[in-house]
Amino acid sequence: MPLNADTLIDTARALMAPGKGILAMDESLGTCNRRFAQVGIGQSEENRRRYRELLVTAPGLASHISGAILFEETLYQRTADGVPFVEVLQAAGIVVGIKVDAGAQPLAAFPGERITEGLDGLRERLKAYAGQGARFAKWRAVLNITEQLPSRFAIQANAQALARYAALCQEARVVPIVEPEILMDGDHSLARCQAVTTEVLAQVFEQLHQHRILLEGMILKPNMVLPGQDSPVTATLEAVAQATVESFLRTVPAAVAGIAFLSGGQSSPLATAHLNAMHQGAPLPWPLTFSYGRALQDEALHVWAGDDAHVERAQQALVQRARCNGAAAQGQYHPSMEN
Ligand code: 13P
Repeated sequence: MPLNADTLIDTARALMAPGKGILAMDESLGTCNRRFAQVGIGQSEENRRRYRELLVTAPGLASHISGAILFEETLYQRTADGVPFVEVLQAAGIVVGIKVDAGAQPLAAFPGERITEGLDGLRERLKAYAGQGARFAKWRAVLNITEQLPSRFAIQANAQALARYAALCQEARVVPIVEPEILMDGDHSLARCQAVTTEVLAQVFEQLHQHRILLEGMILKPNMVLPGQDSPVTATLEAVAQATVESFLRTVPAAVAGIAFLSGGQSSPLATAHLNAMHQGAPLPWPLTFSYGRALQDEALHVWAGDDAHVERAQQALVQRARCNGAAAQGQYHPSMEN
């Protein structure tokens, strides 16, 4: 067995518990501040702390959420009563995770493309995060579709960085979530998104193999296969589900512990309906669930809007979305659950 296999497999299985998914609450400072600004919430560390306290203390969250991905700042924050967020989550039975990449930067000599940074010093940072209670991590690569892009080089450079990150995680007994996100921006077709997604995943798993990653101890966090958001054509739930599952069956080894989708800018109900549709066909070789950010949090953030009087209603909105997605992860969601 490779290094740390048992620990990694146990953690990955806990994250893929049936009927549960992962709460992505790891927005970087810039992204979190931008979302606050849209709702008229002041952009301060204290407001970010208040908001994240609301999320981690939501009653009943653990019924549908197996793990939470935190931003570094949040790993060290506490509730107003002084309890570390990490302890709140652990007491509820929610596994603590951490975003460890340093963001996507322009890829030199490749206009319009990006490479994710953050490998320097990652071994030491992972030790510190694991010491704080983090048992899994996330690294996001970003690729975009145009007529010419993504270039083969950008796909390979990002796949290699994802695999180097994953190897360092597994060395530190931390389960890597490997996230190659292909953005929805553009007017490309469903078929083009499927071709690009398939190519990217093939390259990512080739690199993961080269880097000796234990597939049973990692989780893939992909985009769904969708037409670009400016495409004049809308795809049916069934077409999206079929194109997405087909792409994964062609590229994702059955040994992978699980797949947990990002929502990528889809509306909350649509992200749920797509996930549900993927479970209507033949049984899949891997657990297939959600690791949404916006599609779990949007309504809660708007309801809260920075006002303590709305905390309870905001928490109910969060748990309601988690409940719908938990059902969708088992193919048991129905739109009537929205009421
Ligand atoms: P969205 O679900 O909002 O796309 O966020 C998920 C995530 O973790 C992006 O890195």
